[in-house]
Amino acid sequence: MTQTKELVAINGHISKPEDAKISVFDRGFLFGDAIYEVTRSYGRILFELEAHVDRLFKSAEQIDMRLQMNKAELIGHIYSIYKKLDIDNVFMRIQISRGQGPIGMSGKIPQSVNEVIYMYPFVPIDSSYYTKGAKAFVTSRLRNSKRALDPNIKSGNYLNNVMAFIEGEKQDAFESFMVNDKNHITEGCTSNIFMVKNGVFITPPSDYDILQGITRKIIMKIAPRIGAKVTEEGFDLKTLQNADEVFLTSSTREIVPINNVNGRSWDVSRFSLTKKLTEAYKRYIEEYCESAQKTHPWK
Ligand code: PDD
Repeated sequence: MTQTKELVAINGHISKPEDAKISVFDRGFLFGDAIYEVTRSYGRILFELEAHVDRLFKSAEQIDMRLQMNKAELIGHIYSIYKKLDIDNVFMRIQISRGQGPIGMSGKIPQSVNEVIYMYPFVPIDSSYYTKGAKAFVTSRLRNSKRALDPNIKSGNYLNNVMAFIEGEKQDAFESFMVNDKNHITEGCTSNIFMVKNGVFITPPSDYDILQGITRKIIMKIAPRIGAKVTEEGFDLKTLQNADEVFLTSSTREIVPINNVNGRSWDVSRFSLTKKLTEAYKRYIEEYCESAQKTHPWK
């Protein structure tokens, strides 16, 4: 089979991105009634795919969506699609909607989900973001509360985040952060936040209105490897502006130092702990990939 560089697979049917079409009656399109995950690969290993698939299944369970494969089958399925591409580093998004049917909200119809997998060559953000830092904006917008729509459900309904993002974009921000009703910072539109104060990494608590990012969890696990402590603690904009170092985390962008939050700026070349952590994170990626090579579904 001729190999291509990018593809979209809809229910396993592979097409060129420009030919991939989904029904206008799809519930993801109509209501954001969908769930998704994003990761990237390093040398043909999809990073933390098991953790992403686990979270996808948790999201499905929380919205009463019935998936058609079990976790192992889904992982095999994703790799069987990846094999059609001849590239080491891909961006991968899997999105599953409740399916298509008559316009309406019943959970009984439609009965069959639509599963879309996007795979493209991975394009990293500009390297200057890692060396010079990125600008962030803390909006006054509340992150959806758990009672409204738990941010731990990684749903296709990101209007909350899109609105916050657009607000920050008007301030030239790379990422916007949302708050809770105490004006404590929760998370970014597509990332989690950490600050460093007096040698300690601080991140908003897991029971806040946040997605418990996979990168966030890894950082909490590896921080002791560089001799640092991590605590989960609420903080507002003023406290954040008093931090020694600030950075965001996500699967595709890893660790991005922040050089400005609502007018307060930092020289990120002095972010010594963020730098050490970034090195430790890179080592973790290598370890993960080495160990995944052994059970790689490619073989
Ligand atoms: N976003 N918070 C939100 C709201 C997110 O959408 C994401 C991920 C994160 C970070 O999670 P993780 O470390 O598991 O990637 C936090 C992905 C990258 C996206 O939407 O593209």
